Amino acid sequence: MANSESLVPPQHIAIIMDGNGRWAKQRGLPRTAGHAAGAESFRRIANYCRTLGVKYLTVYAFSTENWKRSQDEIAGIMRLLRRYLEEALRDMEKNRVCFRFFGDLTRLSPQLQKLCLDAQSRSQDYDVQVNFCLNYGGRDEIVHAARAFADEVAQGKRSPEELTEGLFDNFLYSAGVPDPELVIRPSGEKRISNFLLWQSAYSEYVFMNVLWPDFTPEHLDEAIAEYHRRNRRFGGT
Ligand code: IPE
Ligand code: IPE
Ligand code: MG
Repeated sequence: MANSESLVPPQHIAIIMDGNGRWAKQRGLPRTAGHAAGAESFRRIANYCRTLGVKYLTVYAFSTENWKRSQDEIAGIMRLLRRYLEEALRDMEKNRVCFRFFGDLTRLSPQLQKLCLDAQSRSQDYDVQVNFCLNYGGRDEIVHAARAFADEVAQGKRSPEELTEGLFDNFLYSAGVPDPELVIRPSGEKRISNFLLWQSAYSEYVFMNVLWPDFTPEHLDEAIAEYHRRNRRFGGT
């Protein structure tokens, strides 16, 4: 972990937690066992982010496209989420993690929706803010924001000319959260898969050949070190 210790970590890191299924397959286990191992990996990395002083950690846990999976797999993922949130609510003060949820939660079970709302409302301004992307899609988020803005126009509260990039930001699930400087995708896939389309306009992407359940704090150090080697120009010179 020596590499990044001397470097200031990005204030906001986003991770596409991918590769759970392949991890399970390699071991001859059901896919749900891969998701359980992925949940452990998340706990480890969230703790490590707190140690590093990362302020925001956004994780892609379930996409708007993941409903295409088998009922069994979806139920397994939802069960793990429920268990994780119950535990998080119990250990809120010990873990010092503050929760936000990005995505359309209305498609989740009422029980899971309640856990999300409780976790969010009981969160305080703790050391790390975890933004959990659940039933999240970047396109869905933009459509949802456009609809919310249009609704305010229809009610006469705003006019179309008022809309700027900054104002549009306020209608996104991520309102008030700065854009991620670094987006990490483990698992070897090199695509965005509908993650933070608006917010990652100028993020640095780091793709890594490790499956999410095998992702360690050393991998995070490696991604941060790679981020520090990049030259961010934002369209300038
Ligand atoms: C990511 O792991 C978890 C979710 C998408 C819920 P995958 O389940 O996509 O794992 P692979 O890509 O099949 O290995
Ligand atoms: C992205 O992984 C979604 C999550 C990690 C939650 P997927 O496994 O769903 O993405 P694709 O299908 O490989 O693009
Ligand atoms: Mg995958």
